[in-house]
Amino acid sequence: MKRPKTLSRTSTVKDVRSEPLRAGAARPTKAASPRHIVITGAGTGIGRAIALRLAREGSYLSLLARNVARLEETRSLALKEGAAKVYVESCDIRREVQVVQAFAHAASEHGPVHILIANAGIGGANAPGKKDRFEDLIQTNLMGTYACMRQAQAHLASGPDPRHLVVIASILARIGVSGYSGYCASKAGLLGLVRALAMELAPSNVHVNAVCPGWVATDMAHEGLEAMAKGMGISKAQAYKQAMSQVPLGRMSEPEDVAGLVRWLISVDALGVTGQGMDVNGGAFMH
Ligand SMILES: NC(=O)c1ccc[n+]([C@@H]2O[C@H](COP(=O)([O-])OP(=O)(O)OC[C@H]3O[C@@H](n4cnc5c(N)ncnc54)[C@H](OP(=O)(O)O)[C@@H]3O)[C@@H](O)[C@H]2O)c1
Repeated sequence: MKRPKTLSRTSTVKDVRSEPLRAGAARPTKAASPRHIVITGAGTGIGRAIALRLAREGSYLSLLARNVARLEETRSLALKEGAAKVYVESCDIRREVQVVQAFAHAASEHGPVHILIANAGIGGANAPGKKDRFEDLIQTNLMGTYACMRQAQAHLASGPDPRHLVVIASILARIGVSGYSGYCASKAGLLGLVRALAMELAPSNVHVNAVCPGWVATDMAHEGLEAMAKGMGISKAQAYKQAMSQVPLGRMSEPEDVAGLVRWLISVDALGVTGQGMDVNGGAFMH
């Protein structure tokens, strides 16, 4: 059968796509055997919430971040939630050697990878000068995430079942914020990366998507509010009020709200979704 023209450019990738589900055909509701899910930055905030949400499916989890003590806490909580097995390893995503090793170890513990949730990242402002954090922000959020995605690809389970790479980007991938050039550039870069990899990997039935959260109640958001309060010479409570005045729903999202969207993206209900940035921002940015 002749390939559609749009796919012929990706001919280096083997096409193992299974026949699409026909309308009305029964969809499986749960993976038949545990899926191996790697989650970066899983010791805190959004990453921990995602780990606990996905633990409930009886998954094999591999949790990576620099601070192992916090990963161990997530591990015990995830086992209580129902994870079948949990592997943790200290890994600085800015160091490619560590990323290569961590994915190799994870694959040797749990087998090939079905899903990567590339959540690890740093926030905060940057400004020109000797202490400009621009490079660190790009190195962590963009290059570190890229290294993780390539290692997930290197250890990916074979098809034809869908496999997933999900990146946690940000509302700042969509809009500019003064003083946040590094963060905005790194997160906007992730959307380009997601779109290109979605094209590269679609013929293998690998879905690549991003989630773009707005304010989410984690340490990172609270540090952001404190910086905002300091910069404006107001209290943190006033900064919260000011920030939420830009959010139609009037409140921060919870980490679990992001976890729920990630859960949906890797479910059979999202079989047609790839190359997308999904917004969860209380209405703060609308297309
Ligand atoms: N909270 C928000 O309002 C918000 C909004 C939009 C997007 N996000 C994004 O959501 C993701 C999670 O953030 P969060 O809010 O949950 O904040 P968080 O609690 O600070 O989580 C960030 C995680 O990334 C890990 N990390 C940072 N640098 C790393 C490195 N070099 N190598 C490996 N791991 C690293 C940290 O663990 P270690 O320190 O142990 O390494 C930490 O667990 C981030 O990508 C963030 O940009 C957050």
